[in-house]
Amino acid sequence: MKRIRIAQILSSKDTGSHVTVMGWVRTRRDSKGGFSFIEVNDGSCLSSLQVIADDKLPNYKDEILRLQTGCSVKASGIIAASPGKGQKVELQADEIEVLGWADPAVYPLQKKRHSFEFLRTIAHLRPRTNTFGAVARVRNAMSNAIHTFFQERGFIYLHTPIITGSDCEGAGEMFKVTTLDLDQVPKKNGHADFDRDFFNEPANLTVSGQLEAEIYALAMGDVYTFGPTFRAEDSNTSRHLAEFWMVEPEMAFCDLDGDVALAIEFLKYIFAYVLKNCEEDMKFFNRFIDSSAIETLENLVSQDFEILTYTEGVDILSKAKEKFEFPVNWGMDLQSEHERYLCEKVFKKPIVLMDYPKEIKAFYMKVNEDKKTVRAMDVLVPKIGEIIGGSQREDNYDVLVERIKEMDLNPDDYWWYLELRKFGSVPHAGFGLGFERLIQFITGLGNIRDVIPFPRTPGNVSF
Ligand code: 4AD
Ligand code: MG
Repeated sequence: MKRIRIAQILSSKDTGSHVTVMGWVRTRRDSKGGFSFIEVNDGSCLSSLQVIADDKLPNYKDEILRLQTGCSVKASGIIAASPGKGQKVELQADEIEVLGWADPAVYPLQKKRHSFEFLRTIAHLRPRTNTFGAVARVRNAMSNAIHTFFQERGFIYLHTPIITGSDCEGAGEMFKVTTLDLDQVPKKNGHADFDRDFFNEPANLTVSGQLEAEIYALAMGDVYTFGPTFRAEDSNTSRHLAEFWMVEPEMAFCDLDGDVALAIEFLKYIFAYVLKNCEEDMKFFNRFIDSSAIETLENLVSQDFEILTYTEGVDILSKAKEKFEFPVNWGMDLQSEHERYLCEKVFKKPIVLMDYPKEIKAFYMKVNEDKKTVRAMDVLVPKIGEIIGGSQREDNYDVLVERIKEMDLNPDDYWWYLELRKFGSVPHAGFGLGFERLIQFITGLGNIRDVIPFPRTPGNVSF
């Protein structure tokens, strides 16, 4: 089945050639003059191609006039300049074959605009809408931009494991992986007997590829992972998923300042990339989802980011006139209302907060000389809050053992991680970018469930 993509036809604007397109009917309109206009979309771009079906086509009465939203068709004909408004070229069909019918009495996607809540219940059909098609293309373009950015800079793409035996963030928010019979779990000393489990020990889905990325950074210099991560935190918010994708570079011979500099360069690169390569989809988001979407990205590419310490941030927040739901004090984990206040009201641009209290951050972050804070950094953006979290890693063996104990973790579980600090330890740093939060920020979509094809959230896995 040879076909040409609609994106190719619309971008070349060449007329006169004979082509075949295949796709799904968005609308059909019949003119009194003895022909119909059929809008066909094949997902290759936002725009549909206007197909002109003449009533002289042999199946005009029996089939063409029965075409409705959602039917699939194969249309062949000549590309011609379009006299109508809204499109430069159209297809003057000499043959239209119906590939699959979609009964309008039961097809859930009709011409009207559906709510995002409703569309979440039909995840198998929502990619046929403008919004979800555009999201899928932007995700694709951003994935490409991410790889290009790191490849151009000599980073090695590393595949870290999905199933692990360790807890990277030390927060215990992990999904268990087991083949034990849950109706009859074998017990030893009153606990599940993992000797009889698949791996002979407890296993989880990874919350981050960082620890393994550190292993390879300490052999190859600069590496990055880009893969799915899983968190069993019961956060039913518009910014949390149980399964999300994370980009994690890790650099040997790099400190926190180098880490922050890379994060800013990285974000600017991918925002410039989406503006350049997803023009049509970005115009769509700007028109229908968030009227400041394009301007926000343009500003980001040209503006500096504000860099300040956690302590300075808390200082500004505690002097603010704003009434926060969670009162601010030094030592607290900042809530999204605080992060957004700093970005949206105080600085009106993205900010990088550094040097957080060690109690609220993971065990692996390098302890500062003040012994109270760690070399952590979060990048916060308007509307979303935290989009990147990173740090310089603790590279001192003794300090790291202490930190692991302080956090009530068992140093034995991290023996290999500790050995990296025994044999040729070097300063190193990295960060993690939440891919879905990035797509949310770019598109302006309010709910993270609408920027991933199949969202996994508490109570929702089937679809
Ligand atoms: O700040 P986090 O927890 O950092 C780490 O996992 C580090 N190991 C990264 C590193 O240094 N290599 O997560 C990183 C980012 C967050 O800033 C956020 O954008 C995103 O991952 N994120 C989530 N996105 C969607 N749903 C969730 N439940 C998320 N949790 C974190
Ligand atoms: Mg974080």
